[in-house]
Amino acid sequence: MTAVGIDAIEIRTGKLRLDLPETFAPAKGEDPGKYAKGIGIQYSSLPDVYEDIVTMGANAARELMDRRGLVPEDIGRIDVATESAFDNSKPVSTYIAGCLESVYDGDFHHANKGERKFACLSGTQSVDDAYNWIRAGRNRGRAALVIATDTALYARGDPGEATQGAGAVAMLIDEDPNIVALSTEQGYGSADETDFLKPNQQFPSVDGKRSIQVYLARMREALEDYESVAGDTHPDDFVYFPFHTPYPGMVRKAALLGYRHITRNTEVEDALAEDIGMQPREDDYGSREDYEEAIRGYMDELKETRRYQEWYEQAIDPTVDISGQVGNWYTGSVHVARLSALRAAIENDVALAGEKLLVGSYGSGAQAEIHAETVQEGWHEEVDAADVDQQLDGRYDLSFEEYELVHDAHNHEKEVDVDAFTQPSGEFVFTGWGRMNERRYEYVE
Ligand code: CAA
Repeated sequence: MTAVGIDAIEIRTGKLRLDLPETFAPAKGEDPGKYAKGIGIQYSSLPDVYEDIVTMGANAARELMDRRGLVPEDIGRIDVATESAFDNSKPVSTYIAGCLESVYDGDFHHANKGERKFACLSGTQSVDDAYNWIRAGRNRGRAALVIATDTALYARGDPGEATQGAGAVAMLIDEDPNIVALSTEQGYGSADETDFLKPNQQFPSVDGKRSIQVYLARMREALEDYESVAGDTHPDDFVYFPFHTPYPGMVRKAALLGYRHITRNTEVEDALAEDIGMQPREDDYGSREDYEEAIRGYMDELKETRRYQEWYEQAIDPTVDISGQVGNWYTGSVHVARLSALRAAIENDVALAGEKLLVGSYGSGAQAEIHAETVQEGWHEEVDAADVDQQLDGRYDLSFEEYELVHDAHNHEKEVDVDAFTQPSGEFVFTGWGRMNERRYEYVE
């Protein structure tokens, strides 16, 4: 069977950044350590006043198409994943296609366009849709463009304000991909949950502490479901484990739980037992509470072991590096985690072709999905070519007062006139509203 997967990737970050430990924490009267260590985000990426989900998505897509020498005729499908949409009817993909048509010869009239919703999971679901479309033989030789784009803003004062971010990830999904091929095997963990939602409102209603527990519960279900089709997993099977990363501290929790699961009944558990004993088994305890307390004790000891820490440093740390520089990009977040790991592999001279990743996506509301990916021969060249460092380093540093203005400028309920902090150049920008309340865009040379 021909491999199908991610052939090229580009990101577009919001052009502003807020330093959480140095600027946000002092303004909130909080310890910078909460952000630098606990949450694990150094900078939130934020959109300048002329940026939004369309401009970031279109700019990422244009970068990708230019680099690969693609024209609209080569793309048969454009799917946008977002939880920051501003229209309940017209999909964001039509706006993005309109932007791209203004700079390329030809058009996307032949392309199937859509918008996917399941909180942060929908980026991965859109990749799935593209995979299925190609596998079904309906693509007529064309590739799919998947764009995950979000402005992950929270109401001022909400605990989630510390995890904000804004950015887009554009991915080309095709046969014989250069970066990773997707496994057919998938696992799901899905339940009707009220942890994080946006019921016709711009900023989310969040039960933060509960959202953490729901994330972990659904991920565990998805892993068990994945193992039911792919067989038991072992830490040595995968070189990296990119997870949905609302903030790196969340991944720390998920990784510990995941490691306990994938080492159970393996020689790793036996080796660890010399220092911390075997994992508690429910049958050995009189009540669920006693068992859960024993598990907590085991996990506290597990995370202090050298073996776990070495695994974490090698398999997880590289996946959260970019996230710590940009914050939560919602639908793009797990795709940023993959890119982060692959970039770290280049920096550390890790040979990856043929190696596997275990990818864990999550969307509140709630559903997790787990699948494996096999790194392809062309990964190094593609990932090296992605324009990441220049964008991250080129962001404008906001003072706290400027951050307040930017937040107000993007708040749909406020009418404020805020000047841009950066000068647009060679990019799509938001220019205002049209006669039917549509958003309007133009390309600035
Ligand atoms: N030095 C070091 N660490 C410190 C510290 C210090 N001075 N002060 C606090 N910390 C640690 C805390 O111990 C905590 O770590 P642990 O969870 O490992 O104990 C961490 O920093 C965060 O501190 P708090 O728990 O006190 O932070 P909070 O309550 O203000 O906010 C949050 C945390 C509830 C997750 C909040 O950021 C939030 O609501 N975020 C949005 C929801 C979210 O991201 N949930 C994640 C799962 S849902 C999901 O993944 C979907 C999605 O994208 C939104």
